[in-house]
Amino acid sequence: MLNFDFYNPTQILFGKGRIADLSKVVPADARVLVLYGGGSIKSNGVFDEVMAGLAGRTVFEFAGIEPNPSYETLMHAVELVRKEKLDFLLAVGGGSVIDGTKFVAAAVNFEGDPWAILEKRGRNITQALPFGSILTLPATGSEMNDGSVVTRKSLQAKVAFSNKLVFPKFSILDPTKTFSLPVKQIGNGVVDAYAHVMEQYMTYPVNAPVQDRFAEGLLLTLIEEGPKALANPEDYDTRANIMWCATLALNGLIGAGVPQDWSTHMVGHELTALYGLDHAQTLAIVLPSMLRVRKEGKRAKLLQYAERVWNITEGSEDARIEQAIQRTQEFFEKMGVKTRLGDYKLGTQNIDAILKHLESHRMVTLGEQRDVTLDVSRKVLELSL
Ligand code: NZQ
Ligand code: ZN
Repeated sequence: MLNFDFYNPTQILFGKGRIADLSKVVPADARVLVLYGGGSIKSNGVFDEVMAGLAGRTVFEFAGIEPNPSYETLMHAVELVRKEKLDFLLAVGGGSVIDGTKFVAAAVNFEGDPWAILEKRGRNITQALPFGSILTLPATGSEMNDGSVVTRKSLQAKVAFSNKLVFPKFSILDPTKTFSLPVKQIGNGVVDAYAHVMEQYMTYPVNAPVQDRFAEGLLLTLIEEGPKALANPEDYDTRANIMWCATLALNGLIGAGVPQDWSTHMVGHELTALYGLDHAQTLAIVLPSMLRVRKEGKRAKLLQYAERVWNITEGSEDARIEQAIQRTQEFFEKMGVKTRLGDYKLGTQNIDAILKHLESHRMVTLGEQRDVTLDVSRKVLELSL
């Protein structure tokens, strides 16, 4: 096992009716900004519960944080916080709202142009406002981690940053609040969580059986529960299991002490920045090809994955690996997320632009061995046509 630090200060309040507990976790004298997206929380009752939970506090609202939150929009929230001297943020929504709130928390008292936070990937954050989250879309894990991804539309740049000062103080996870998700977002969430596990598991063995088995447990659970959520959207236990899987997939637990990849995510971010694909759609396109192209470096773990996750034990090594990748791809499709560039009207003509963006963002030595060069990324994209 590799050396590691493990730090996670986020308190989780999980279960039906937990939004009422806001009154216990938000300071009574807080001046709160509630941040949210395009309005789903108004139609599914979450907003009213949040306001009831915050009763007695000074509360302002900031609506309109879009999927793949933009720097341009978030800077308006920063101005509001500064103007009204607010001191506590509450993100209510999916990964985009939570990520956006992390940026606002760090930007409000940042000296200089807050875009520098993204340029330095968060290393220059020295303080952040406290914030909590109410999660409505299980997918990103943002509710229990210190990462965030912000897009600057004017530059077509989608940039990730992290800093331990932007862990949420608490996150409330009420699975009943996910009943209203559109079918597309159910699939997106399951595929994103699956890809998070794969980016931390599918590397090379370092004799870390605990992390491996946690990771395999999460994958098996997503494979079992994902289709049930599509078939029976109001099944509480299914939604609860998916929600907890997505949180554990990216809260540091399974990634501690093991090598990590993240190349699929980095290539995927360029697809979103350039063509507006949903985050999970990009992962469904890139991940299967990434595994095929990098089969040699990942051979031992691919064979372990084939056996333990897909129960594939017969045939040559190469045949077992290909079958496991095929099953992964079929699972994404089953969740309603298409896996080819062509499904999104993209083709050979787009590949150079994607590679150019990767190069300009210095994404030229990705992966656990830093061997995912632009040539490798090109092969991956060509295989995804
Ligand atoms: O805006 P509203 O009206 O709320 O609608 C949202 C949005 O349109 C809707 N939605 C959310 N909860 C709902 C709901 N609709 C009905 N009922 C509910 N309960 O879903 C749509 C998508 O929301 P979004 O927050 O964009 O989705 P997701 O949670 O998948 O977040 C994606 C963003 O997170 C980043 C991605 O890059 C992307 O920008 N990621 C963040 C990570 C992190 N912080 O660790 C890691 C991930 O790999 C990822 O990169
Ligand atoms: Zn992701």
